Amino acid sequence: MSAVLKPQPAFRPLAESDLPAVLAIERDLYEFPWSIGNFRDSLATGYSCWAMTSAHGLLGYAVLMLGAGEAHLLNLSIARDAQRRGHGTQLLHHLLGVTRRYGATRLFLEVRPSNAAGRALYARNGFAEVGVRRGYYPARAGREDALVLSVAL
Ligand SMILES: CC(C)(COP(=O)(O)OP(=O)(O)OC[C@H]1O[C@@H](n2cnc3c(N)ncnc32)[C@H](O)[C@@H]1OP(=O)(O)O)[C@@H](O)C(=O)NCCC(=O)NCCS
Repeated sequence: MSAVLKPQPAFRPLAESDLPAVLAIERDLYEFPWSIGNFRDSLATGYSCWAMTSAHGLLGYAVLMLGAGEAHLLNLSIARDAQRRGHGTQLLHHLLGVTRRYGATRLFLEVRPSNAAGRALYARNGFAEVGVRRGYYPARAGREDALVLSVAL
């Protein structure tokens, strides 16, 4: 019996030329999306910025800040029509590998309490709540808190 191999997504460093596709996904996913300037600054600062691609194009992207033995995940996004197929989990595992190889012992991130998909993804991958940042995010009615999550590596 021959096994049918599922094509695996590829990971590569995000490039300036990816930004139009990134911005299209970002604006589709978020009510308060990052600007092109946020992505340009992340690339210019040398943050660990990743594209996850298939033969059909960009599936998702992520921005990771590595420094002083710690890591902070600033953005992790999967295109709407590619969601719920394990890509978010694969991208997160890639970032955990990058963080481990860098030598950091913990990965931190912020998530909106209202973001059920994000919270479920992180909980399934061992993240635990370690704090709350009051009024961290813009929201329709004022501001929304951020939950601070962290996982030990
Ligand atoms: C959060 C996000 C990255 C998940 O990506 P994804 O490719 O759908 O994730 P996966 O397919 O690997 O899902 C892993 C698990 O997360 C949870 N999950 C994902 N989407 C969910 C949803 N819409 N509702 C509830 N749980 C969800 C489920 O437990 C899921 O496992 P299951 O499909 O076996 O039930 C994606 O929904 C996204 O890009 N959202 C918008 C951007 C965002 O919120 N990013 C995180 C900001 S901190």
